[in-house]
Amino acid sequence: MKKILLIGIGAGHPEQITVQAVNALNRTDVFFLLDKGYANDDLLRLRTDICERYITHDDYRIVQVLDPKRLGNPQSYEAGIEAWHEQRAVLFEQLIADEVGEGEVGGFLVWGDPSLYDSTLRILDRVLARGAQLFDYQVIPGITSVQALVAQHRIPLNRIGEPIQITTGRRLAECREDQITNVVVMLDANCGFEAFAETDLHIYWGAYLGTPDEILIAGKLKDVSAEIQRVRETVRREKGWIMDTYLLRKPD
Ligand SMILES: C[S@@+](CC[C@H](N)C(=O)[O-])C[C@H]1O[C@@H](n2cnc3c(N)ncnc32)[C@H](O)[C@@H]1O
Repeated sequence: MKKILLIGIGAGHPEQITVQAVNALNRTDVFFLLDKGYANDDLLRLRTDICERYITHDDYRIVQVLDPKRLGNPQSYEAGIEAWHEQRAVLFEQLIADEVGEGEVGGFLVWGDPSLYDSTLRILDRVLARGAQLFDYQVIPGITSVQALVAQHRIPLNRIGEPIQITTGRRLAECREDQITNVVVMLDANCGFEAFAETDLHIYWGAYLGTPDEILIAGKLKDVSAEIQRVRETVRREKGWIMDTYLLRKPD
């Protein structure tokens, strides 16, 4: 039977990769790299660097394909995601059919951990449900950007007895200040923290975590909100892309 490995590769630091992931890399015959089409694709390079660094033989292939673009759906956000997932399922099915032979292992290198805001697992389930390709799959966990953020700020993710919420910038926009104790925000293209700039909340912000371009800013939102926005916009323009994550925390 064909086997597919979803290998969590950490959030940007090439050493944030587990021994289990290194072993998985070494038993993969073909890697699928999804090209997001950025002009300067550091993210693709990090994946190929990881292969070169950790695989101890030359007997593997890399297949790079253009990831279908997610188009907004005027009717609903969910409908847009649904259409995008279907397009990706068709692509994955084709890749597995054409590139993974019987008894071979195909690998997807997943940013951070495959369980957190990543659709690869859902799409593989979709491919199986379509019924044209039969394969077994395994998930190899990785270090998430949430862990990288709190490690770099040298703070625990939780304070004693307090809940932690992980959400997106889109969902943060629906929160009131009194609903925030510890909220980690990912996938926020619009600086959602700005809506709380006049509150007493603290922020621990990190961009390009684990990479040589890492930036960390922390403090009372009142004091650092404008600085984060300015820095974020400058580096995003310079590099052409940004990945940032932050923790909003009620003061002690
Ligand atoms: C599609 S999600 C993938 C999350 C990933 N699976 C994980 O475990 O961290 C992409 C979001 O993760 C966060 N992210 C991933 N890598 C990051 C990094 N190196 N620095 C800061 N944020 C990062 C950002 O919020 C980004 O918008």
